[in-house]
Amino acid sequence: MNQIEEAVQILKSDGVVGMPTETVYGLAASIESPVGIELIFKTKERPFFDPLIVHVSSLEQAKRYAKNWNSLCDLLTQTFWPGPLTIVVPKNDDLNPMITSGLDSVGLRMPEHPQALEIISKLGHPVAAPSANKFKKTSPTKKEHVQLEFPGLHVVEGGPCRIGIESTVVGVFNHEIKIYRPGMITKKQIENALKLNDFEVPVSMSESPVAPGQLKHHYMPKLPVILMYDLYDIKLADTSHIPQEVMQNPNVLTLNSEPYMCARELYDKLRECDQDASCILIPLESAWSELDEWAGILNRLEKAASFLTKKKS
Ligand code: TXA
Ligand code: MG
Repeated sequence: MNQIEEAVQILKSDGVVGMPTETVYGLAASIESPVGIELIFKTKERPFFDPLIVHVSSLEQAKRYAKNWNSLCDLLTQTFWPGPLTIVVPKNDDLNPMITSGLDSVGLRMPEHPQALEIISKLGHPVAAPSANKFKKTSPTKKEHVQLEFPGLHVVEGGPCRIGIESTVVGVFNHEIKIYRPGMITKKQIENALKLNDFEVPVSMSESPVAPGQLKHHYMPKLPVILMYDLYDIKLADTSHIPQEVMQNPNVLTLNSEPYMCARELYDKLRECDQDASCILIPLESAWSELDEWAGILNRLEKAASFLTKKKS
């Protein structure tokens, strides 16, 4: 049996598996298995109020679990699927409410990774898959990351993730789109797709109260993360609000200045820096916060961070 057939067998027997996607590795269970779905929450130590994304391998599957699929859904999925965009739409009544934490909406995504698509189509049902990390911790972008966190789990090898941070999550309404979680599919890209197709629909950034990617602390390594804006010499930083022992022996994480490369390497670098030091210090340029391509990366870093520093005044 190859690794995909084995994964499908486990999913059919109410188990969970590690599944590569182009964003991050997921911890997948069949949406038709209540036992498997519950096992996701238990394995991740994730609270039940945090809804899961349903991953599909065809448009028919997505439409089957949505209610009121509208022309905006058509446009977004035609433009960005398969790929790192999750659409949140009203859900079909027969979808297991544990997946959606009792909400009347569901997050749907068609991943671009060939192994993910093969697993879902061989299973014959979508899979629910949060990122394959313990709740609030850093998401995995390599098979080894998942194996270290969940020893004994069957993880399908899919190589390092091409995108590197989680999908853009958007709420799709009749006359507007709300970005609940920014990602590497940007607000501008979504606006351009709308414009090209003559849709006059506003797109806004809107931290959803129900999307726990929104919890203040998330994506956190073990060591405290310190974001250092616009200065590369720690001696110039105002660290008076940071405990001395935290500053004693920092690991400096230098980000790639090209955002797509930066996103791809980000979580791997965070893991590498998460040892033999007192903190992870990350120099950033405040100019990046004006640029759409950085929105997802900065969102994750700010949620991972314990402290911010600026130049001494
Ligand atoms: O890239 C990704 O999206 C990865 C890979 C594995 O596909 N998955 C992922 O899942 O990041 P997770 O569970 O770690 O994050 C899902 C986010 C959460 O913030 C969740 O609240 C939001 O999507 N979400 C899911 N369903 C939702 C809903 N019905 N309404 C609002 N937000 C929802
Ligand atoms: Mg996650």
